[in-house]
Amino acid sequence: MWPTLIVVGLLCGSVLVNFVQRSTINGLQQLLQESHPRRVARSVSYYSEPSNEDSTATQTYYFPLYTQLSSKSIDKLCKTRNQKEQPESEDKSENETVHKAKFRPENTKKISRKQETKEKTCKEIKSLGGKTLIGARLHRVGGAIRSGEKWLLTEFSTGYSVFEYRTNGSDSISSNDPYRIHTLNDPFQGTDHTIVGNGRTFVYNTAASKIIQFANLYTKRILRRSLNISNDPLYHHSFSYVDIEFDESAVWVIYRKPHDHHLTVSRFDSITFSEKARWSLTHVPIEKNITNCFVACGVLHTVSTVVSHGRSTNRITAVFDFDAGSYIHQNTRMAWEWKGYGVPSNVQYDQNSRTLNVFDQGNIYSISLNNE
Ligand SMILES: *[C@@H]1O[C@H](CO)[C@@H](O)[C@H](O)[C@H]1NC(C)=O
Ligand SMILES: *[C@@H]1O[C@H](CO)[C@@H](O)[C@H](O)[C@H]1NC(C)=O
Ligand SMILES: *[C@@H]1O[C@H](CO)[C@@H](O)[C@H](O)[C@H]1NC(C)=O
Ligand SMILES: *[C@@H]1O[C@H](CO)[C@@H](O)[C@H](O)[C@H]1NC(C)=O
Repeated sequence: MWPTLIVVGLLCGSVLVNFVQRSTINGLQQLLQESHPRRVARSVSYYSEPSNEDSTATQTYYFPLYTQLSSKSIDKLCKTRNQKEQPESEDKSENETVHKAKFRPENTKKISRKQETKEKTCKEIKSLGGKTLIGARLHRVGGAIRSGEKWLLTEFSTGYSVFEYRTNGSDSISSNDPYRIHTLNDPFQGTDHTIVGNGRTFVYNTAASKIIQFANLYTKRILRRSLNISNDPLYHHSFSYVDIEFDESAVWVIYRKPHDHHLTVSRFDSITFSEKARWSLTHVPIEKNITNCFVACGVLHTVSTVVSHGRSTNRITAVFDFDAGSYIHQNTRMAWEWKGYGVPSNVQYDQNSRTLNVFDQGNIYSISLNNE
């Protein structure tokens, strides 16, 4: 008798607590919607493949702007979500590569024979110029992406918020409040995202998934592409499973396939965001000291880092030319170095300012690039 009463009492108590929590959350959501009326319409849409993905498109999750979710709950959320959408998009991505791009993924030599060697219209890096400190963050892990005067920053290795800063001719973002805060529909994972299309589309790896998401921050249009990505982080000391880059010609997704020990790179069209080609770079092993990569003027560069006495030496090596479809031979390889603070969590090329932009242990800096 008594135990039953106690159980019933506890149950009622927890229902009550639950109800209070729910109404608090609803209240908060309402408040947020009132203060950000334009942020309400957060539906997901696809712009090139509306067909069978519509069912998953309407499945949107809402969270208040600054809600902190534990990584566990994000993982859980994403797993249930991705179980539903992964199989279709996986097939689609494979089909696209095989049937449209007509590239044999495993054979780089074949690709290079088929592909006409393209004349480069941009200028390759010839040397490094000066380093300018742009800002500092409290957290040692994060990403900083530049598009001219515009910067997008992310903190830690997962979250919903993208902080936008403008330098407007000055050299610093540290003392300013963000110019704008963008909230993503799906959380990001890692630190190696990029922005394309005049800084309007944020390209990132959705947390706990093998999906690359192209999210227009202003129109909220979203396109998802799935790739066969390993469950291990891409680089030593990194939280990223993919490294996404943008240069004069394309969006480049650098990753490792399951059980592989070398890099695979997929090239995506920077307007349609469809996969156009894929290279399996068996001669670019993922060595322990490779901490990042970037693509500038169609050339893949690796960054390897050695840390000693609280300082780091970062070496850039040009390794593969996508336009020529060939490896850059060891003896003609260019290598440059810069001194940093530790292992950088993000190194990105910006074609607008012709700089390399680095998030290095909470320090954000730009390195100018010379083409002679
Ligand atoms: C892949 O392409 C083939 C040939 O075009 C087609 O028959 C098949 O249905 C496609 N598969 C998917 C999942 O779209
Ligand atoms: C930068 O310039 C733009 C356009 O002139 C202006 O709207 C914006 O407020 C400026 N931002 C900062 C942080 O000064
Ligand atoms: C992913 O890549 C691995 C290694 O290359 C391969 O064994 C596996 O079959 C691929 N999976 C899919 C779904 O393509
Ligand atoms: C990274 O390791 C490779 C071999 O494992 C070595 O050839 C290279 O010089 C190293 N890079 C740096 C910057 O020490």
